[in-house]
Amino acid sequence: MKQNSIQKIRGTNDILPADYGYWLKIKNTFEAVMQNGGFKYIEPPILEYKELFIRSVGENTDIVNKEIFGASRLDSTDEIKYALRPEFTAGIARSFIENGMSSWALPVQLYYWGPSFRYDRPQAGRYRQFYQGGFEIFGDDTAESDALSILVVYEMLEKLNLAEKVIFEINTLGDESDRSKIQKAYKEYFSEYKDKLCPDCQQRLDKNILRLLDCKEKNCQKIQERAPQLIDLLSQKSRDRFKFTLETLDELNICYSINPKLVRGLDYYTNFVFEIRDIEDDTRQSSLGGGGRYNNLVKELGGNPTSGIGFAFGVERYIEKMKQYKIKPDPIPAVKVYIIQIGNKAKKKSLNIIYKLHQFGIPAAPVMGGRDSLKSQLKYVDKMNAPIAVIIGQKEAIDGTAIIRNMKDGVQEIVDFEELILKLKDILNL
Ligand code: HAM
Repeated sequence: MKQNSIQKIRGTNDILPADYGYWLKIKNTFEAVMQNGGFKYIEPPILEYKELFIRSVGENTDIVNKEIFGASRLDSTDEIKYALRPEFTAGIARSFIENGMSSWALPVQLYYWGPSFRYDRPQAGRYRQFYQGGFEIFGDDTAESDALSILVVYEMLEKLNLAEKVIFEINTLGDESDRSKIQKAYKEYFSEYKDKLCPDCQQRLDKNILRLLDCKEKNCQKIQERAPQLIDLLSQKSRDRFKFTLETLDELNICYSINPKLVRGLDYYTNFVFEIRDIEDDTRQSSLGGGGRYNNLVKELGGNPTSGIGFAFGVERYIEKMKQYKIKPDPIPAVKVYIIQIGNKAKKKSLNIIYKLHQFGIPAAPVMGGRDSLKSQLKYVDKMNAPIAVIIGQKEAIDGTAIIRNMKDGVQEIVDFEELILKLKDILNL
């Protein structure tokens, strides 16, 4: 590489042809599960007002404090107003309000797919630009839809042969009426250890008390051990609701583990939360996906009070798991027939032949790159792993014939142009 060549930004990835089969498999599987379940596609813009994320994800979260990419005109000296989305839920809640979706038949079930951006410290599985697929359900506040959210994620994992490799971790944060009791109990407990907490947790004490439960610092973890259990602080109503969800999952035979420390890193969550992680990943540092209920978000963004629940997964992390567990990608459609042209007469005819083959659904392409000799063109077709070469030389171009060559055994047959399509369809079983 030349010294002055520009490289990709750290933490971003090129999606290269060799990996595209994984992308296709995940996207197709995800879309099929979503569409089967009545979800409709939505695609909010990548750029939104930064205020949207500050208000929804939360002013005191890592995402807002450290990870949002701002965007402005290159020559602007004004304050930055726009941000690249760090996640979809906020934009979709904004779109729900802006497009009057509360008057649609509820629940409104939406799914999405696309890049998100976070200024994370890049490392394996943690990128600055990464793809998320996910869904949101607005206007259904039942415990049944909590379980349904797990079911559709499970269905997708099952179709990708990943269901056995992952575990659902679930928890409940209680509803609005549990909040003050929970906050008071944790404030009292953790304040006693204030001096021993890490600097981040000391700040969380005033700003984001639940996050004290999932700090990964050793000292903080020790203090967490004796903290009151979230479930004990919930009202009977919240506990019954959680129990209903768990029993529904039992009916479905979906394995889960209750993680009382699971609080998630975004502020909008209420009640039910969940994450999926590799069964063998004890570090719990990189989840494959996560989600939960956010019953106040639409109201906080200025809409009519509407409940919500959703989930998003990291596509690159799914791909890494598929590779780790040797799960096959989808095959990418490839060219089956290459046209070898020798001489100017043949060259002039070949694009017309290709056009006709395409009209009859035969994947075909000319050998390009200025290769003139038969030998070099055959070598290219061989490299491309195509089963058939159609050779048109000077003589064939004048006679209106073509030579069909089976690339596997080298057997050749001369046919008239008129017969070519039928013959190729027959050979290729198309
Ligand atoms: P999240 O847990 O922040 O939730 O992200 C969801 C998933 O995106 C993660 O589990 C992970 O697989 C992937 N992900 C996050 N950050 C990165 C990164 N830097 N590099 C690679 N992958 C990453 C949300 O985004 C919520 N909006 C989910 C949700 C939807 N909650 C309700 N509805």
